[in-house]
Amino acid sequence: MKKMKKILFGIAAFFFIIQIPLFTPERNETDAEPESDIATAYDVPMDILMHLYNSCYDCHSNYTREYPWYYHIQPVSWWMNLHIQQAKKELNFSEFANYPPEKATKKFEEIQEMMEERKMPLKSYLIMHQDAKLSSEEYRDLTEWAIRMQEELRHKKDSAQAL
Ligand code: HEC
Repeated sequence: MKKMKKILFGIAAFFFIIQIPLFTPERNETDAEPESDIATAYDVPMDILMHLYNSCYDCHSNYTREYPWYYHIQPVSWWMNLHIQQAKKELNFSEFANYPPEKATKKFEEIQEMMEERKMPLKSYLIMHQDAKLSSEEYRDLTEWAIRMQEELRHKKDSAQAL
């Protein structure tokens, strides 16, 4: 029984210590102008842009909009931060304009796939962000947009080669 108490005390102490702000990862925010944002280089209609802002930008951009109160509780912030870092490595809408055409085409293909299979936004995120949920129609609009963007990129590539 004594051992059990020690273990419980150890766990409690660990959780107490990791709450120290020093261990909270830096926020995913920058003051820089979003000059390489996807909308600066690609045709993103307003409704599509709103869906991206509402449902994707918290993880796939350099601007997580609002950090929820539970961000201050460890290990939640580590877990969230890890998701953001992984997500940005795969796809960063704040840097999309800098992607070379081949990479951009590939990313639009992946977006199409994710929207067709409704794999994004992550389920764990939707539990706390009901407003980020996408309707069937919105999934369809995003899919069609991603297809159109791939076609435009391929078309540009073909006409560049024809020169
Ligand atoms: C809660 C964070 C979060 C949100 C919100 C989110 N994603 Fe992701 N996304 C991730 C993570 C983490 C990965 C990388 C790991 C993985 O593939 O599961 C990822 C990967 C991706 C990939 C690459 C998949 C591949 O083929 O490897 C695409 C494309 C993508 N997300 C699109 C989107 C779109 C579009 C939205 C909005 C509709 C969105 N995501 C919203 C976290 C998120």
